[in-house]
Amino acid sequence: MELPPLLRRAVDRALNGMALDELVTTAAALSQRYREERSEGKAYVASTQDALAYLAVRLPATYAAVRASFAAIAEACPDFMPKTALDVGAGPGTALCAAVECWPTLAKALLVEVSPIFRAFGEQLAAEMQQPKMTWRTCDVAVDEISDEPRDLVTLAYVLNELAVVDRQRLLERLWRLTADTLLIVEPGTPAGWQRILAARRQLIEAGGHVIAPCPHANACPLEPPDWCHFARRVARSRVHRRAKGADVPWEDEKFSYVAVSRKPATITGARVIARPRKASGRVTLKLCRPDGSAGAQLFSRRDGELFKRASRSDWGSSL
Ligand SMILES: C[S@@+](CC[C@H](N)C(=O)[O-])C[C@H]1O[C@@H](n2cnc3c(N)ncnc32)[C@H](O)[C@@H]1O
Repeated sequence: MELPPLLRRAVDRALNGMALDELVTTAAALSQRYREERSEGKAYVASTQDALAYLAVRLPATYAAVRASFAAIAEACPDFMPKTALDVGAGPGTALCAAVECWPTLAKALLVEVSPIFRAFGEQLAAEMQQPKMTWRTCDVAVDEISDEPRDLVTLAYVLNELAVVDRQRLLERLWRLTADTLLIVEPGTPAGWQRILAARRQLIEAGGHVIAPCPHANACPLEPPDWCHFARRVARSRVHRRAKGADVPWEDEKFSYVAVSRKPATITGARVIARPRKASGRVTLKLCRPDGSAGAQLFSRRDGELFKRASRSDWGSSL
């Protein structure tokens, strides 16, 4: 997945002028902090250099993960046409960029962010793109009031891990109250990220929410550790991204876990492909999470006719 050209250009302009060796060192330290997932209540991004490194090496990946999650929501709920959005822990406004691409109906958005550095970059990127009317609020969502106006689409992307454990449940309660239609939570696709998603999923189902993606059911998750539910998106690396990471390969795979919960049930009929398909001549094996709440591998062969064709075309994360 590539960043949309307008966003790509805005990011490149923001990075213009940052010395490469500084970008390389800062990006390496930032990636290490994210890999270790050891923030819990502390900000990973503490300086302008950190925020620039985030734009170079993390934004393309978080954009791809959020955009893929939105695509799953749009598929499950084709009539969902959000006009208003709330993005919490917005960073440089990644989720809103992806939301506008998925739903051009979006007209108004509130972006809430604790870091004035991130907010400044977000405002700069938005000024260069044709974003809907957006309002930024600088506040700490663990303690400050967010808003009193429910919005159609509420997003919390790659934020839960930066909150103290005791603040997560309370924030989700408040975000659900602020959700007029659909709430999306995205986390890194690690076992720990999946556990945070599972806890959020349980809490939101208990609050009356309907899971619309990725799970095709509201039963307990059928996966058991060391297995975990996650997806992957291949992300194109720009030249500066490759140089910042000292990488030769022009792409990377971003693993992510997510849950989307709506006030209305979706008409879910199919299973979800929850691992990379294994394809061989005349056969494809898919690991599926099924509407009856079970999960497991299923072999499709030419004898399955149309179903085999659909299974062959499916990808990790597709619904079948
Ligand atoms: C990993 S970044 C994700 C940014 C963006 N959502 C994305 O997907 O690219 C996490 C963001 O959450 C923000 N954040 C962390 N704790 C916060 C808090 N208590 N209140 C508001 N924002 C917070 C951080 O400043 C940072 O911008």
